[in-house]
Amino acid sequence: MTYIIAHRGASRYAPENTMPAFARAVQMGADGIETDVHLSKDGIPVLIHDESLNRTTSGKGLVKEYTVHELKKLDAGSWFSSHFKHTPIITLEEFLRWVKPYPVLINLELKTNVINYEQIEQRVCQLIEWYNMTERTILSSFNPASLSRVKEIQPAIQTAFLTSQKIKHIISFLHDIHADALHVKYRIVNKDMIDMLRDENIPVRVYTVNRTSRLTRCFKWGCDGVVTDVPDLAHRIRQSYVS
Ligand code: G3P
Ligand code: MG
Repeated sequence: MTYIIAHRGASRYAPENTMPAFARAVQMGADGIETDVHLSKDGIPVLIHDESLNRTTSGKGLVKEYTVHELKKLDAGSWFSSHFKHTPIITLEEFLRWVKPYPVLINLELKTNVINYEQIEQRVCQLIEWYNMTERTILSSFNPASLSRVKEIQPAIQTAFLTSQKIKHIISFLHDIHADALHVKYRIVNKDMIDMLRDENIPVRVYTVNRTSRLTRCFKWGCDGVVTDVPDLAHRIRQSYVS
């Protein structure tokens, strides 16, 4: 079955990477939730997409310039709609505590491709272990060094390399960087690539797939997951495709 993974939560319907978006993802029947992780000034993993606060919060500047106490005072909902005014940024720990009772897969994207957050891999792996969620967590990153560090810290956690570029000799590349899976941009994927990786037992998940035609194609190809802003639409398509 192709897993439906809500991209930054159900981010078409609520502000990305916030509780309302995560709650909607679960309500809509998503099999998993993808979210992006940065570190605050005091080293706490927090959920937000950009390095900067400017686009999605009432703050200005970089996430890493503020303590978690300061970040929690910001409004991460009003940019999306006034209905979500005062929606806060949440920490990874708050997210794990909330999500634990729901039987969903967790895809944490380590945002280490622009800023090198000291110890982010250790802090994230420690939280996953504390919450006993190793078996249902995927750690993904565009930065191969982050994935290698994760494997040194906790080999049992599944790692996934994120790419929007075609890569030659992809299977040996993934092996060299200690990635268990590939998360690939829709634009560069095709059935041959999925078949080749699946023959090697390497899971392939495709991002960010929002259109009916593209979702249908991914389900037909039998990829392991789609990362989507619209888990409700994906669900309807998967059901009609399967039945
Ligand atoms: O995990 C897929 C996707 O989230 C990667 O890109 O920029 O949306 O974090 P981005
Ligand atoms: Mg992401």
